[in-house]
Amino acid sequence: MVKILGISGSPRKAATYYVVQEALKAAESVGDVQTKFISLAGKKINFCIHCDRCIKEGVLYCPVSKGDVMDEIYPAFIEADAYIFGSPVYQMTTSAQLQACLNRLRPLWPLIKDGMLKKKVGGSIAVGGKRHGGQETALATINNFYLCFSIISVSAGYQAYNGASVWSQDRKDKGAAEDVVGMETVKALAKRVAETAKMLKK
Ligand SMILES: Cc1cc2nc3c(=O)[nH]c(=O)nc-3n(C[C@H](O)[C@H](O)[C@H](O)COP(=O)(O)O)c2cc1C
Repeated sequence: MVKILGISGSPRKAATYYVVQEALKAAESVGDVQTKFISLAGKKINFCIHCDRCIKEGVLYCPVSKGDVMDEIYPAFIEADAYIFGSPVYQMTTSAQLQACLNRLRPLWPLIKDGMLKKKVGGSIAVGGKRHGGQETALATINNFYLCFSIISVSAGYQAYNGASVWSQDRKDKGAAEDVVGMETVKALAKRVAETAKMLKK
């Protein structure tokens, strides 16, 4: 059994919220996969203020910003074997909410140092209002996070080299669902994440 954590980095329950959940369903279809979904919509999330207290105190959480969504994300991140992070495309990159979440994972650096993340797997999803609105650059931002954390970043195969790209036509979940090609990349990516995580766990 492998555990996959899906995070929707949109501030609303709309296209990305729908797409990441569809990805988790596709991952579950591989079998022996347990998923957890966390949406940042409506949740409080503070910025990393680079106080370095997490590093000085040697704790795997942020000691200054307790009481926000990261309280839920730290244990889920540590427990998961694989990740599917999705973001709406904002000015050709990720949302501020997802970026804040990724920055706030800095307290987990001892896990990188000790090689504890090197058999974990990550897949990226970007959902733009335009067909070619910057999904590729948003995906690169999430993939770069995986590289920083020594997590193995996987592609969606021949259809989508750096992750899954969806075109919502700015019509929330309904628009995303109509993007047949984009949703195929989401499912292919999610299955690849699940299959790779299972191989690595064996
Ligand atoms: C601040 C802001 C910036 C945006 N920038 C882009 C962009 O650069 N490219 C794009 O394709 N869509 C852009 N959009 C549109 C959203 O990416 C699109 O509507 C997306 O589907 C929203 O996802 P959600 O429904 O999960 O919130 C932007 C939207 C906002 C609010």
